[in-house]
Amino acid sequence: MSRRVLIVDDEKGIREALKQVLEYEEIEVQTCASGHEALRVYPEFQPHLVFLDVKMEGMDGLETLKRTRELDPHAQVVMISGHGTIQTAVEATQLGAYDFLEKPLDTDRILLTLRNALEHVVLVSENVRLKREVHTQYEIVGSSKAIRAVIERLQKVAPTPARVLITGQNGTGKELVARAIHALSPRAAGPFVEVNCAAIPSELIESELFGHMKGSFTGAFADRAGKFELADGGTLFLDEIGDMSLSAQAKVLRALQEGVISRVGSGKTLTVDVRVVAATNKHLEQEIREGRFREDLMYRVNVVPIDVPPLRARRGDIPELVAHFAAELIRGGLPPKEIEPAAVQRLTAHDWPGNIRELKNGVERLLILAPGATVTEADVERLVGKADGARNDAGGDATWLRAGTFEEFKQAAERAFLLTKLQQHDWNVSETARTLQMPRSNLYKKIERYGLGRKGGA
Ligand SMILES: Nc1ncnc2c1ncn2[C@@H]1O[C@H](COP(=O)(O)OP(=O)(O)OP(=O)(O)O)[C@@H](O)[C@H]1O
Ligand SMILES: [Mg+2]
Repeated sequence: MSRRVLIVDDEKGIREALKQVLEYEEIEVQTCASGHEALRVYPEFQPHLVFLDVKMEGMDGLETLKRTRELDPHAQVVMISGHGTIQTAVEATQLGAYDFLEKPLDTDRILLTLRNALEHVVLVSENVRLKREVHTQYEIVGSSKAIRAVIERLQKVAPTPARVLITGQNGTGKELVARAIHALSPRAAGPFVEVNCAAIPSELIESELFGHMKGSFTGAFADRAGKFELADGGTLFLDEIGDMSLSAQAKVLRALQEGVISRVGSGKTLTVDVRVVAATNKHLEQEIREGRFREDLMYRVNVVPIDVPPLRARRGDIPELVAHFAAELIRGGLPPKEIEPAAVQRLTAHDWPGNIRELKNGVERLLILAPGATVTEADVERLVGKADGARNDAGGDATWLRAGTFEEFKQAAERAFLLTKLQQHDWNVSETARTLQMPRSNLYKKIERYGLGRKGGA
């Protein structure tokens, strides 16, 4: 994770001690010996956080704070106060400093302040910053080097007519990237048409892509336009192109080479103006070697490759993504629970084989099902612990978090909910039923169905 911190202090010893601690945390650090220097460095370095000494020769900390926030209203500043300047440091927090540290500096305090500042505050400003950079409604959250490289490339290629092939594992955000390319292209006002090649039976894909004439095959009851026609003037997103049949590949190749298509059962050719963006989670080179994918088609679609890295290769984005999904889900009506920093850390350590889609589902489940007022590390452990092959020390009942179907999920959720309520009332069924405003007999039935007797459930 590339986090940048600026250290401003006129004492060399302090600068170096802080720098050492932060660099050990893999933070990119720059140091300045004066307020003037800091104001020069800030705009270029764009730090996520500034550690700023209160008392300095020349421009003091308060003045530097004020001017920094004029440069960037989202600047996040932690004041460093020496003996006798604590009053000033407190004053600084009223002027917008996030927090203050007291000298002598203590490593644990520094790290705690740093973590809090980065987790709770910086992420907000990073989002603001990113939004400014990617003028698109398809918000790609994250500020890791890896995702920045993806965003940079898509911004570069979007305005051109070049075809793009997006590769990456399931759930990494390939579709999001495709939509962003469309949104940032001169075709943004035109249609964005998506075809999931893996979901269409091979005998239908041709008609799906190119359309058909009434009566051209059994079931063709009327003339129908295909996706290529529908995408005229816009972008056609060929999702899972690696799953397309060889015969469909031949037709797509022709459409791309000649810019013309014809509906199934029609001799007439139609000219279409379509930009193709394709995606796949397969290694096309291997598909080619094994005779399942046409090499010439790959060269046609893969003019500009964009590889979206798996989430575990950009863990630094996880806290931001969690905050983003939680906020989105809460706006959508889920209980507004805070996710504790330790819980975020545990989420960050997990490997996420299903990538961002799995993380998003995980956050949703945590918000719905965490029994307490906040989402704790133990809740996360229940969600991910087993998958990591680690011992599930948190205990409790993991089934509710790992259910496969929605029906299982609902049942597991109800079971978990009832279990908590029963525990709260020390298995007093009458009392539990009263709190839940549920007939006692009803609760007895559920206890039996879910095996929630004191022994079975506890
Ligand atoms: N960087 C990101 N910021 C915010 N949301 C993201 C990001 N990347 C992916 N998502 C969200 O994660 C989910 C999965 O993304 P998407 O559908 O684009 O992945 P995909 O690579 O196309 O997956 P699949 O291979 O399974 O089709 C979507 O809900 C998407 O909005
Ligand atoms: Mg997809």
